[in-house]
Amino acid sequence: MEIEQLGHWPGIEGRVALVTGASRGIGRATAQALALQGAEVVGTATTEAGAAEISERLRAISPEAQGLMLNVADPSSVKTLFGALSGSQSVPTILVNNSGIASDNLFARMKQDEWDRVLATNLSSLYWVCKAAIRGMMRARWGRIVNIASVVGQIGNPGQVNYAASKAGMIGFSKSLAREVGSRNITVNTIAPGFIETDMTREMSESQQQALRGQIPSGRLGAPEDVAAAVVYLASEAARYVTGETLNVNGGLFMS
Ligand SMILES: NC(=O)c1ccc[n+]([C@@H]2O[C@H](COP(=O)([O-])OP(=O)(O)OC[C@H]3O[C@@H](n4cnc5c(N)ncnc54)[C@H](OP(=O)(O)O)[C@@H]3O)[C@@H](O)[C@H]2O)c1
Repeated sequence: MEIEQLGHWPGIEGRVALVTGASRGIGRATAQALALQGAEVVGTATTEAGAAEISERLRAISPEAQGLMLNVADPSSVKTLFGALSGSQSVPTILVNNSGIASDNLFARMKQDEWDRVLATNLSSLYWVCKAAIRGMMRARWGRIVNIASVVGQIGNPGQVNYAASKAGMIGFSKSLAREVGSRNITVNTIAPGFIETDMTREMSESQQQALRGQIPSGRLGAPEDVAAAVVYLASEAARYVTGETLNVNGGLFMS
């Protein structure tokens, strides 16, 4: 499915949508999908070159789109980004927390640094970014937060204690925040992708991928567009009564 074939979803057009990690993979497809829905998309990358590339790509769809630099693991970087956004009157009411990393190792060998980096990038980032975004949503009395977790946070995976803990944490975070801000017309949901073809999974050998495909009822790894379509739904007015939910986009690998 091409992202252009999604059709129009109500409630997204004209909103400012911040997508972290929009330079590659799932975030890239999501930023494109939201731009095609008429959102003013702000997509982030960790480098200037990545941010410039996002601006160029998204402006082909929407002239207001912009790529900016952000390190979600650094609260001062989050502060700088939100300062720039409020300066340009681009206060996001759609927020997709997509940036994420893995740093795999068996638990017995896992270094403190591997634990710290993954937890800061995948989980503490939610504290920093949501904190910066929530006031603008409360003022607008409308907001959509979509957090990209993982099936690994639901079922675990050897070698990924750090990653699984961060992703399971995102689910608990989202449910609690959803309970706090529901009355303000702000929804907070999580998407739990299965294995999606991006740089993150490209390192798997062909035999690993084949074994994996055997466990997926759909018989294939997912495409970034499969996740982007779920984000569009959750960001839209069609999902206004859906909050605190974890939406599995995993081809049936895990059913909750
Ligand atoms: N692929 C999968 O199978 C899969 C499955 C389940 C969940 N997920 C989750 O989905 C999300 C996207 O995954 P992906 O596969 O699309 O990953 P990816 O292709 O590796 O891209 C990762 C993105 O995150 C950004 N990023 C990395 N560290 C960052 C930091 N410190 N601050 C800000 N941005 C940072 C990267 O920016 P740069 O380009 O500048 O480095 C890039 O845009 C992640 O949260 C991942 O855990 C992926």
